[in-house]
Amino acid sequence: MISDKSEKLFRRAVKVIPGGVNSPVRFFKPYPFFVASGLGSKIVSVDHETYLDYCMGYGSLIFGHSYLPIIESVRMQLENGTLFCIPSEKEVYLAEIMTKIIPCAEKVRLVNTGGEATMTAIRLSRAFTRRKKILKFNGGYHGAYDYVLVKAGSGAAAIPSSAGSIKEISDETLIVEYNDFGELERIIEKESENISCLIMEPVLANYGLIIPEKNYLTEIRKITKKYGILLIFDEVITGFRLSIGGCSEFFGIIPDIATYSKSFGNGFPIAAICGKKEIMDQLSPSGDVYQASTYAGNTVSVTAAIATIESLLKNKNKVYPTIARLCDTLVMGIKDRVKDFDNHYTLNSIGSLFQIFFTREQVSTPRDILRSDQKLFENLFWDLLKKNIFIPPSLYETCFISYSHSDEDIEKTIECYSDSLNKYTK
Ligand SMILES: Cc1ncc(COP(=O)(O)O)c(C=O)c1O
Repeated sequence: MISDKSEKLFRRAVKVIPGGVNSPVRFFKPYPFFVASGLGSKIVSVDHETYLDYCMGYGSLIFGHSYLPIIESVRMQLENGTLFCIPSEKEVYLAEIMTKIIPCAEKVRLVNTGGEATMTAIRLSRAFTRRKKILKFNGGYHGAYDYVLVKAGSGAAAIPSSAGSIKEISDETLIVEYNDFGELERIIEKESENISCLIMEPVLANYGLIIPEKNYLTEIRKITKKYGILLIFDEVITGFRLSIGGCSEFFGIIPDIATYSKSFGNGFPIAAICGKKEIMDQLSPSGDVYQASTYAGNTVSVTAAIATIESLLKNKNKVYPTIARLCDTLVMGIKDRVKDFDNHYTLNSIGSLFQIFFTREQVSTPRDILRSDQKLFENLFWDLLKKNIFIPPSLYETCFISYSHSDEDIEKTIECYSDSLNKYTK
């Protein structure tokens, strides 16, 4: 359990790092455990506890920690330079494979983080449409900057907006409820001439886990096209995870722009904006939409992304069916072993993503999550941690299964979840 060393490290950390952590979701009370290493499906804390990991870098580690083929490729690259800031062949090769895999990708620009990618996608949309406003969903998290930090999910779920944000900028962001097409239609019909883009996670994975209702994405594609609003799929989580071509391939809906990160580099910092040629060519130096970054296309991250995608391509008929089967086994196992499950709980899952809610009602919009008992979620988090299972410490996050998880891991997890859930319903 969390003990001496983690507590001491946290005391040191708060003196020099705001809140003791470098990203707010990492904090939980009284203090988080500190990690020492990770391999496959497991991480080891500085207190020598081994945890089965379902946070997986918030979805980044589709292959699990320190996956050898990726680590070996990166190791070789390290001997040959890490950053040049002039173009390299690997960047071209990576963009070429992406244009083959990602349905909307005629051109690709590499950046370092998901936030940079979505910020650029929005700027491109504004330039392309010459409209100012953007539409996003309540609970949609797209990064930590002003015009998307409005009713955002993930670590920002508890705050309506951030102190220090400029109101005039956030005022340009219109919010709609996910899975409520009627509301979206009303706002679009009223404001269409001002709306540049609709940015969305096709599967909402930053406010718990919410799955799109049947035909919802098809209707969204139709209405955005009709009013000349660019559709941005923020696939920072779902890209390369739900399928190799992300949600676009999974649901067969092609957006105008899509953004990728997380599973794209299996734990290395890399992200991308992909889109149609006429939109992407607005980026400088070919166009007048400015975007730049010193570390964009650095050889380490590019090598990791190439190794990740090549491993996914080589094993695609094994990876995706395996992680989905493990997830289904986990979900079915918990439902089978928890007495009267449907009268107390709801479990949402898709592909290798899952999240439990402490309500018997269906959870299909962020509003529904507010019915889920927060206290019971906290109890579950601590119960699981005591049993050496680490899930993200917030109901507003999603749990992830990697290709390194084994049937044995899943069986243990079913046992631990059902043991706790049965206890709460006694
Ligand atoms: C869907 C989505 N978009 C964007 C981001 C921002 O990515 P980053 O934290 O790399 O800036 C995240 C981060 O969790 C995300 O989940």
